Amino acid sequence: MRSAKIVGVGSYAPPRVLTNQDLARMVDTSDKWIMERTGIRERHIADDKTAASDIGLEAARRALKDARVKPEELDLIIVATITADMSFPSTACLIQDRLGAKKAAAFDLEAACSGFIYALSVARGLIASGEYDTILVVASEVLSKITDWEDRATCVLFGDGAGAVVLKPAKKGQGILSTYLRADGGNWNLLWLPAGGSRIPTTRDSVDKRLHYMKMEGNRVFKIAVQSMTAAAIEGLKKAEVRVEDISLLITHQANLRIINAVAKRLSLPPEKVFINLDRYGNTSAASIPLALDEAAKRGRIKRGDLVILVAFGGGFTWASAVIRWERISLKSYLARFGHRLSSLATRRKRKY
Ligand code: UT7
Repeated sequence: MRSAKIVGVGSYAPPRVLTNQDLARMVDTSDKWIMERTGIRERHIADDKTAASDIGLEAARRALKDARVKPEELDLIIVATITADMSFPSTACLIQDRLGAKKAAAFDLEAACSGFIYALSVARGLIASGEYDTILVVASEVLSKITDWEDRATCVLFGDGAGAVVLKPAKKGQGILSTYLRADGGNWNLLWLPAGGSRIPTTRDSVDKRLHYMKMEGNRVFKIAVQSMTAAAIEGLKKAEVRVEDISLLITHQANLRIINAVAKRLSLPPEKVFINLDRYGNTSAASIPLALDEAAKRGRIKRGDLVILVAFGGGFTWASAVIRWERISLKSYLARFGHRLSSLATRRKRKY
């Protein structure tokens, strides 16, 4: 069976930034508490008119440009989100239309904060089977719309953002080497949004009781997140048949700096092999990993041939990992490798004329 590789990556966050100081004026909290307990300094918040498809579309356009793939070439679009524009049609269909991806099938996938890796795994399988050749995976979240801005225990944590990757076939042993997905529905009510579905439809009463906002028992989620993400990483490495020492970069779901550090420590990965950007984005659920992946690639933190491990944990509970041999060459590393040739070519040309 063939493999699948990432040929383009992009991300986008709405321009408005909400700092910890801003939050301290809204609820009983402080920059000190938020920094010490979470590592978050600020987050991006969408305006009233912006929905998941809007920021997902921008991330998708950037990933397609990076991949040099035209929308008409796409066979499938998968959008991972818990903040879809509406219950139906899917956000993937809305993005498909606005991209002009005429021949692409489209659907949404919901696995909360693990959604991106779940979608990556589905896309990888469909490429490996030969069903599709070119797949766009988008993770887009506008969590600010389901955040209770009067609840200090949750409102300081979340932010809005989107990330996307384009996948194409690769030779066996290249690109995505393993994906590992798990779930435990037994803990569904530790992190959930009670109303708005078929169990508790939206009514005046559900709104009065603030049931249309996210609820979380943070403390209990914290412990299970550390255990599950560590286990997912170990299983993912085993499936990929690589050692933890061979990993160049760990990118986890960005929920809490203390969780990320605890997972890295359990895996014996030093800080320089751990990518962190939650200080500037907060927890963006499914979008956090592709947002971080894009930043890591653009900053030259991942070079061609590097092994990267992605690890996530979220509501459901769901948890997942993906081990990837990076096949893209970043502009930064391209210039580092070939920049001198380009500049000597330019000098020779100047001399000629
Ligand atoms: O993305 C999906 C996965 N999600 C996660 O992984 C999140 C996991 N959980 C966490 O990141 C952490 O549990 C939190 C950051 C949510 C909370 O940190 P914690 O260290 O677990 O704090 P806590 O919930 O045990 O609360 C400690 C204290 C409480 O006060 P008392 O009872 O000790 O007097 C809270 O009322 O901190 C209080 N508190 C706050 N104080 C100031 C809770 N939120 C705030 C706040 N500002 N924003």
